Amino acid sequence: MTKLYKAGILGTGSCLPERKLTNAELVNIVETTDEWIVQRTGIRERRIIDDDMPLARLAARAAENAINDAGIPKEEIGLIIAATITPDYLCPNLACSVQKELGISGVPAFDMNAACTGFIYAMNVAQQFIENGACKYVLIVAAEALSRVTDYQDRKTCVLFGDGAGAAIVGRVEDGTGIVCYTTGAYGELGHNLTIPCLYATGEDLAKRNEGKKQVVWMDGSEVFTFAARIMAEATLRVVSEARLSMGDVEYIFPHQANARIIQNAVKRLKYPIEKVYSNLERTGNISAASIPVCLDEASKAGMLKKGDRIVLVAFGGGLTYGALLLHWSR
Ligand code: UT7
Repeated sequence: MTKLYKAGILGTGSCLPERKLTNAELVNIVETTDEWIVQRTGIRERRIIDDDMPLARLAARAAENAINDAGIPKEEIGLIIAATITPDYLCPNLACSVQKELGISGVPAFDMNAACTGFIYAMNVAQQFIENGACKYVLIVAAEALSRVTDYQDRKTCVLFGDGAGAAIVGRVEDGTGIVCYTTGAYGELGHNLTIPCLYATGEDLAKRNEGKKQVVWMDGSEVFTFAARIMAEATLRVVSEARLSMGDVEYIFPHQANARIIQNAVKRLKYPIEKVYSNLERTGNISAASIPVCLDEASKAGMLKKGDRIVLVAFGGGLTYGALLLHWSR
């Protein structure tokens, strides 16, 4: 395919709900301890969306932040992609609801469900629209209200998840910056290891969950853990070697924030310094698709990233899916 333009991130934004759910509070809800959660996951608190707050509003705030950060007229956005597994409605999709909140009528808007890999998949789609000249700007908003699909009686999952939204404006960037290469993939045959039934559920799905709870997360944590550590390292190496670089050339890695031990395990396989791996897991828990764009926004606003920095974004998630991107920071 002819690439007319280079694609990169022009601005980022994020929005986390104000309400915190700490480990100390969870200890009163389910049989667990602060020590277990911190040692086995690295998480100390997560943010929880208010019951009367639509996810679309949280997502729109993150999107507005990204639009302001990029300094672009919102009317010139040509496509809206919402990466989520917890939309307010199946129809209208989250992207259309965000579009309504933003007041940018007319342009296509669709949801992307690749679970925690959603932001990487969405970046990959946005990249095509920018490179072939179809759009000037694409808005990606990755937003999750995982507390709405969490069973707070299931200690194997409820300690992990939080809510939040991150966004990015993808657009044309100058040569020498932007997305260099990517890898994405999925193993549907492993999908049964992490499920949230929606309109349909098998007897097996129901048997795995506490009685009467259909639309909640169930996960075989150790199966997902093994997959995650291996694929995060493999996908990172793949993009780094495709770019003819070595790990020493990478300034930062932004991994999906699921478990500190997964990140440590992957980084050890890569023989990469942990200090150069961004993490906010301690404060946010796992916010699925939103995790990487929230991290990127925090790092960008903290002045950690400078133009030309080589960074890797890498994620895995339900599906099971995975993806990695290598890019030169373009702001
Ligand atoms: O974004 C993708 C989403 N998924 C993930 O990233 C999750 C990947 N997996 C993980 O992060 C980890 O597998 C978990 C954090 C979910 C679990 O950690 P683990 O080290 O794999 O623990 P385990 O499931 O092997 O359980 C060890 C023990 C069990 O007790 P027994 O059977 O050995 O007596 C569990 O019942 O820990 C127990 N346990 C807990 N204890 C206290 C499980 N959850 C808890 C808890 N508090 N919250």
